[in-house]
Amino acid sequence: AKDVLTLEELSSEEIVSLIQLAVQLKKQRAETGSNPNVLQGKVLAMIFDKSSTRTRVSFETGMLHLGGHGMFLSGKELQLGRGETIEDTAKVLSQYVDAIMIRTFEHEKVAELAKHAAIPVINGLTDGHHPCQALADLQTIYEEKGTFEGVKLTYVGDGNNVLHSLLIGGAKVGLHVAAACPAGYEPNEEIVNTAKEIAKKTGAVIEVMENPQAAVQGADFLYTDVWTSMGQEEEAAKRLQDFAAYQVNEQLVQWAKPDYKFLHCLPAHRGEEVTAEVIDGPQSAVFEQAGNRLHAQKAVLAALLQ
Ligand code: CP
Repeated sequence: AKDVLTLEELSSEEIVSLIQLAVQLKKQRAETGSNPNVLQGKVLAMIFDKSSTRTRVSFETGMLHLGGHGMFLSGKELQLGRGETIEDTAKVLSQYVDAIMIRTFEHEKVAELAKHAAIPVINGLTDGHHPCQALADLQTIYEEKGTFEGVKLTYVGDGNNVLHSLLIGGAKVGLHVAAACPAGYEPNEEIVNTAKEIAKKTGAVIEVMENPQAAVQGADFLYTDVWTSMGQEEEAAKRLQDFAAYQVNEQLVQWAKPDYKFLHCLPAHRGEEVTAEVIDGPQSAVFEQAGNRLHAQKAVLAALLQ
């Protein structure tokens, strides 16, 4: 694939091979302190219309590790934020840099950018998808289990962009993905149906339900994400009430396998979607998972830019 906009455009083999490359790059760095200098002289433009800690720092560091450079561009400081078209922006940036990573709101904006760019475009999060996060999540699962076969990942909470990418990515690699979301907060129906179609070919199991205990039963990995984020301040009180039964706490984790691991894409709101006991407890893998953003994205950059 030229771009990484969603995990749907990548084949199952491409996803597994990216994960294996990420594991290899991680191992090389841990064992020798070195990185392959495969992107020497390459420049990644990183457009952010929204704030970020992990995505920004891991992409910029990833480019540096591979011998290239990551250039931070605030969306509102670009002419794009003052009315220049996406098409013109894509064509102009294609003259200067070797790839674009963009974090923005509407998924269509990223698709439009990729359509007109002569260089690879990577989705660093849109309202619809968070593919780089899901790649790091799948890497974390693969490193723990050594396989995706027979592994159950349960997601509880908001049917958002993170869940969308987990459903598609999980379906591609043959995971059992069970999601429990309150009524009114379900994932996009079209994405769920796409994941179910993919699952028919890969042996994955894709389930979306309302009951959190049923979804968590027998889970190897238990994943959640924030209930309220920037831009949702006005509906925050209602959301906190609607999601109350979906908190990952000592009671809910009893339904998972005894050796379950807790995952969260971060940032986390302790006391809302997860208790401090769980996220800071011995079965939490959230910082390893955050660390894997660096390795998974280095694999994406190396694969797209070499
Ligand atoms: N998980 C994630 O995308 O983190 P940031 O918003 O900090 O990039």
